[in-house]
Amino acid sequence: MPIIDIRNIKKNFKKQTVLEDVSIQVEAGSIYTLLGANGAGKSTLLKIVTGLLNSDGGKVEIDQLPVDKDPREAQKVFSYNAQHASVDEVLSGLENLVLIGKLRHVSNPKAVALSLLEQFGLLDAKDKIVSTYSGGMKRRLDLAMSLVGDAKILFLDEPTTGLDPSSRLDLWKVIRKLQSSGKTIFLTTQYLEEADQLADTIGFLKDGKIIATGTPKEMKRLAGENRLHLTFSPEDLKQAKEVLIDFEPKVLAPELISIELTEEMTTILNILKVLNDHHLEPTDFETIRPTLDDVFVTLTKG
Ligand SMILES: Nc1ncnc2c1ncn2[C@@H]1O[C@H](COP(=O)(O)OP(=O)(O)OP(=O)(O)O)[C@@H](O)[C@H]1O
Ligand SMILES: [Mg+2]
Repeated sequence: MPIIDIRNIKKNFKKQTVLEDVSIQVEAGSIYTLLGANGAGKSTLLKIVTGLLNSDGGKVEIDQLPVDKDPREAQKVFSYNAQHASVDEVLSGLENLVLIGKLRHVSNPKAVALSLLEQFGLLDAKDKIVSTYSGGMKRRLDLAMSLVGDAKILFLDEPTTGLDPSSRLDLWKVIRKLQSSGKTIFLTTQYLEEADQLADTIGFLKDGKIIATGTPKEMKRLAGENRLHLTFSPEDLKQAKEVLIDFEPKVLAPELISIELTEEMTTILNILKVLNDHHLEPTDFETIRPTLDDVFVTLTKG
């Protein structure tokens, strides 16, 4: 039973169809990553899923609670972190967190606030007013705010957009830690690398639909299998091609043979054995793995 169940969501803004038919199921305890370009409709979908915006069709259940019928009840089990920071610039980090804690009726707001500040590396800056924070610090504080209370499901809209590489790595750590503490995380991103690093399941949102879904590994397969590239000296190339004929070698360049690795290790070992039996030694070799960028190009072409 998925903990987030999104069925056939549709949304139009006047004549513009933004979401045509979107269905997503997320298992408890997993990280789901929704990938899509600017304007694909990621934020629109999150607003509908969290009950902030009405859809034009379809339904959403979170922890088996119907969001459209009873958003207040559903909102108790999740927290939503919007794309644009909702921190109060004239308060300190600590004051922001304590305020949210009081609003959410947590039993010891200050203790909760301090523990979150520590978790997000903001303890030293706790008493500075937020307008003096860097962009990365604000984003982290904003994320910390969405963790006040005890939501078991987190919706994060582009949590790392605009962060420098090192702050991004820090946030990935936090997100992984949240998952290992049992949370279910639904995040959006435009970064393929981020999806690759974090996701249990990736969905590609394009033209109002999820055009592909799977694990990062499965998604990369869409752009083709891994390949082995072998370089030979000009005098060895012809013979190498002949002895490797069962592996369907492709000659990509005058000295370069490329072979698809269907069963990766077994294929590599078999190739090396054949070469060794014929006293052929490649001058260089490399395994080529499709990246999510290749997938994106493949999918958006079609
Ligand atoms: N309130 C609104 N009224 C009219 N059009 C809207 C509204 N909100 C979003 N849109 C349009 O819907 C489309 C999807 O917007 P959305 O913000 O969901 O995209 P996104 O995938 O989150 O993009 P980004 O990566 O830039 O955040 C855009 O064309 C946008 O202009
Ligand atoms: Mg958005």
